[in-house]
Amino acid sequence: MTVHFIGAGPGAPDLITVRGRNLIAACPVCLYAGSLVPKELLEHCPANARIVDTAPLSLDEIVAEIATAHAAGQDIARLHSGDLSIWSATGEQIRRLDALGIPYTMTPGVPSFAAAAAALGQELTLPEVAQSLVLTRTSGRASAMPSTETLSAFAATHTTLAIHLSIQSVKRVVEELMPFYGADCPAVVVAKASWPDQEIIRETLGTIAAAVEESGIDRTALILVGPSLACRDFRESALYSVDYQRRYRGR
Ligand SMILES: C[S@@+](CC[C@H](N)C(=O)[O-])C[C@H]1O[C@@H](n2cnc3c(N)ncnc32)[C@H](O)[C@@H]1O
Repeated sequence: MTVHFIGAGPGAPDLITVRGRNLIAACPVCLYAGSLVPKELLEHCPANARIVDTAPLSLDEIVAEIATAHAAGQDIARLHSGDLSIWSATGEQIRRLDALGIPYTMTPGVPSFAAAAAALGQELTLPEVAQSLVLTRTSGRASAMPSTETLSAFAATHTTLAIHLSIQSVKRVVEELMPFYGADCPAVVVAKASWPDQEIIRETLGTIAAAVEESGIDRTALILVGPSLACRDFRESALYSVDYQRRYRGR
């Protein structure tokens, strides 16, 4: 018996990997984080599967569900939104599984920052403008930030920031970033990227907080900040230049 952790993607039910979908279809038990995982994905579960929304459960209760399935020899599909590698709370579950000697696999998913970039129709790294992308968040009720991981520290790079789990603190985010990026820096909020009710707000750092307040968006949104978000006159990358010889170009 194995627990298959699966990145369910950002919201659109067809943004799951083929491997993830096949695993859901093969597991008689499905545990899903109901707050953000789209319900349509549960249609891939086999008939008579045990399907449990873990949103209201504690970690102990989730592990108890897993242990029960393990004792019955049943594989489990464990769905988390987006990709598993960021803010999925898989770390603590894996630690429990290791202690219990229960095997697991991990199948990646499309993260929300990638869905947001796709919604914007943009690349977030542009030659000589931004060559790094910072995936970060601000402190919330559930998790404090490590003391060195401040927005100011990341802002000092002037690169593109993708700030998660922080839309309710957008005013504070703006205050902290303003000295580094300035009021005219592009700032974008993408809410529910890839869901039918996706919303995009394109503003500047100086205007984004008021626009968010006016929109009423207060959850499931990313704040993206950085010059790459509105830059048109960047240099072309060398990759496709006619002068650039590389291994995969047979001329
Ligand atoms: C608990 S984290 C989960 C992140 C997820 N593991 C990922 O790969 O993106 C939830 C936060 O991710 C962001 N998020 C998740 N889905 C989103 C979406 N479809 N559109 C915009 N932001 C999203 C929001 O900032 C939200 O508060």
